[in-house]
Amino acid sequence: MREGHASRTAEHNALFRALESSLPERRRLFTDPLARAFLTWPFAFVARLAVAPGLRELVPWLIDNRWPGVRSSVVARTRLIDDAIATALVEPIEQLVILGAGFDSRAYRLPGMRGIAVFEVDHLDTQTTKRQALARELSVLPPHVRFVAIDFNRQGLESVMPAAGYRESARTFFLWEGVTNYLTEAAVDTTLRWCSRAAPGSLVLFTYIHRDVLTRPGIFVGTDRLFASLAKAGEQLTFGLEPSELPEFLSKRGLSLESDVGTAEYRRRSFTDAARKMRGHEFYRVALGRVGRSVA
Ligand SMILES: C[S@@+](CC[C@H](N)C(=O)[O-])C[C@H]1O[C@@H](n2cnc3c(N)ncnc32)[C@H](O)[C@@H]1O
Repeated sequence: MREGHASRTAEHNALFRALESSLPERRRLFTDPLARAFLTWPFAFVARLAVAPGLRELVPWLIDNRWPGVRSSVVARTRLIDDAIATALVEPIEQLVILGAGFDSRAYRLPGMRGIAVFEVDHLDTQTTKRQALARELSVLPPHVRFVAIDFNRQGLESVMPAAGYRESARTFFLWEGVTNYLTEAAVDTTLRWCSRAAPGSLVLFTYIHRDVLTRPGIFVGTDRLFASLAKAGEQLTFGLEPSELPEFLSKRGLSLESDVGTAEYRRRSFTDAARKMRGHEFYRVALGRVGRSVA
C-alpha cells in the first residue's frame, strides 16, 4: 500500500462488485448497493458508464481481457463468502470480525448483521477513506459496526480488539478476504493464532494464494499484467501456501480445515456452465477453518 492512500486493490474489488450490481437482477450473483460509493476517478466513471445496456457487458469484457480471471474470481468469491456467512449465522455466531475489510459492505447489506457485533479491522489509510464514504452515503453509521485500525505487519490483534468490545468467549466468524497474500509470514501466523483463541466452533474464512505463483508465476495465466498493476499500486504479493500443506499449517495454529476451494471450483459453483470459458487467477483460494479439533 502507498502510505497515506487507501488500498488500490480494495478499490478494484469495489469496482468489480459495483459492476456486478449493475447487471439485471436475474443475472447478478449479489447486490452491493454501496460499492459505487467507494470509487474514485476513473473507476467511479467506469462504474457509472456500465449502468447502460451494452456497456454493462462491454466494461467487464474489457477488464477480463486486460486482467484475465481477476474480476470473475472476486465476484464469485463474494457470493461464496456471502453464503458462508449466511450459513454461519444459523449456527449461530455472535460476532463477525472482518480483517482487512477494505470496501467490504457486508456489515450494511447482509441480512442478520444488525443482530450481531461486526468489527471492521483495517489499515488506517483505507479505513479513513471508507469511513468518509460511509458518512456521505448513510445518514447514521449503524451501531452494530465498530472500526478498528491496525497494521497486521506491526501489531497484534490482542492490542486493539478488547478496547473495541471484542469478546474472546463469543462464537465468532473471522473473515480475512484478499489480505494474507500482502502480509509477512509472521503476520499471518500471529493473526491465525489470535483467531484460534476465540470460542470453540468459531470459524475463520480466509483467502490465500498458491505458493507457486510467487516462485513460478509463468505457470498461471495472466500473471505478467496482474503483477505489473500490483507493483503500480504498491501492493506486491508476498505470502502464499502450498494447498496440500494447509491442514497441517492450520492444525499447528489451533484450527481444523473444513474446506479449501480454488478459483476454478468456486467460479464453477457461481457461474456454472459459463465458468468453463473463464481463465486466470487460478492460484487464488478460499479456505475455511474451525477453532478446535476436527470432529470428523
Ligand atoms: C485486496 S484488499 C481486500 C479488501 C476486502 N477484504 C475485499 O475483499 O474486498 C486488501 C486489504 O488489506 C488491507 N491491508 C493490506 N496490508 C495491510 C496491513 N499491513 N495491515 C492492515 N491492513 C492491511 C488493505 O487496507 C485492504 O483493505
